[in-house]
Amino acid sequence: MLNRTAAGPLIDFKRDDKARGAFVSALRRHVLEDLGGVMQADFASRVAAQPPAEGWNAEQVHQAMRSRQSFRFYSALRTCSQDLLYQTVRAPIERSRAALMQEAPDAGGSLLLDPQLPVPRSVSAIDIHLMPGSYHTEYGADDQTMGAVYEQRLALSTFGVFGPNLDDIGQSIARFMRLHHPRWRPKRILDLGCTVGHNTGAWKDVFPSAEVHGIDVAAPCLRYAHARACAQQRAVHYRQMNAETLAYADGHFDLVFSSMFLHELPRRSLARVFREAHRVLRPGGLMLHMELPPAMQLSAYESFHLDWDGHYNNEPFYRAFRACDPRQLVAEAGFATGRYVQHVVPSWSALGPTAWRRAVRANEASVDSPQTGRLARGVRWFCFGAWRD
Ligand SMILES: C[S@@+](CC[C@H](N)C(=O)[O-])C[C@H]1O[C@@H](n2cnc3c(N)ncnc32)[C@H](O)[C@@H]1O
Repeated sequence: MLNRTAAGPLIDFKRDDKARGAFVSALRRHVLEDLGGVMQADFASRVAAQPPAEGWNAEQVHQAMRSRQSFRFYSALRTCSQDLLYQTVRAPIERSRAALMQEAPDAGGSLLLDPQLPVPRSVSAIDIHLMPGSYHTEYGADDQTMGAVYEQRLALSTFGVFGPNLDDIGQSIARFMRLHHPRWRPKRILDLGCTVGHNTGAWKDVFPSAEVHGIDVAAPCLRYAHARACAQQRAVHYRQMNAETLAYADGHFDLVFSSMFLHELPRRSLARVFREAHRVLRPGGLMLHMELPPAMQLSAYESFHLDWDGHYNNEPFYRAFRACDPRQLVAEAGFATGRYVQHVVPSWSALGPTAWRRAVRANEASVDSPQTGRLARGVRWFCFGAWRD
């Protein structure tokens, strides 16, 4: 398991906690990789040959699979393993609450909280992805519990796919942009819905002279993000803010980024966030979002598989987001149609520098490849956005 700092253990993981963590991580990998494979084979051999009159789409695959043992077993075990994740990390984090509040050495970044900021109902009304307390719940003054829970749960649930510092999305995409645009040097970078800043910090690593900012509505996550950035000696500025109403001047940023953020927003918020991103970008700036691949670019089966979270994992906006056309979202926000970009980016931490550069220089992989957006060996990250004229 990871701790917040590379320097020392802040979370009091006993031997039993570590054993539970190893079990739940292996269980989750087994469910996603092995049982997922069994379910796909079941669909291909027993179900696919009798398509509905109008052909398969993701929801029809879902309906057809609901009565299959392969799907039921996969779903039951996946939900149990998700529950176990939170049970496993919660107790050691609660034991370590005081240690988590220790001051870390300043790294030149900052933390600015706004206790008056309303937490949107899309965050507060449900335990998102079954995470008890969602992102925002505070269990005392200066509390960081939900930040720690998010990080430790991510470490277990991604079984190494996110890299040793859980920042593979940011590292891979930032390096990809630097390789493709060697003269592009963003001076100010903003990460929307940054949670504990895993992927925010990666931009600082790749563009060290940039001023890097991360915003989120959840105070406990931002406190943890700030402490984590201090401990890892990264100067990042965290502010509690709603991405729908950014408190930054027009044209302030060269890059507005997000990762795994948009699919947790209601449709009307999505439109506001895109318009705000457009507003705070300077001409020539880039908006880039790492996300789930859109349904329209995937086969019916792959789309059904990704939509599982939308049905069974307390992700109420997930399927509606995946149903959107990313080009249209970008155009509606005011970006010129011809300035749309999308990429499928190989994993930096899985391949290492030489193989990664080779993979990037070879043709880009297809969005519909079984690795794109899947928690699996050889994962590739889908991202899309636009340059602002
Ligand atoms: C899935 S997490 C994002 C993960 C993170 N970007 C990463 O790469 O690890 C979604 C985050 O968005 C935040 N959030 C939700 N609605 C928001 C809004 N309107 N403005 C800012 N942050 C928001 C949540 O508090 C949560 O921390």
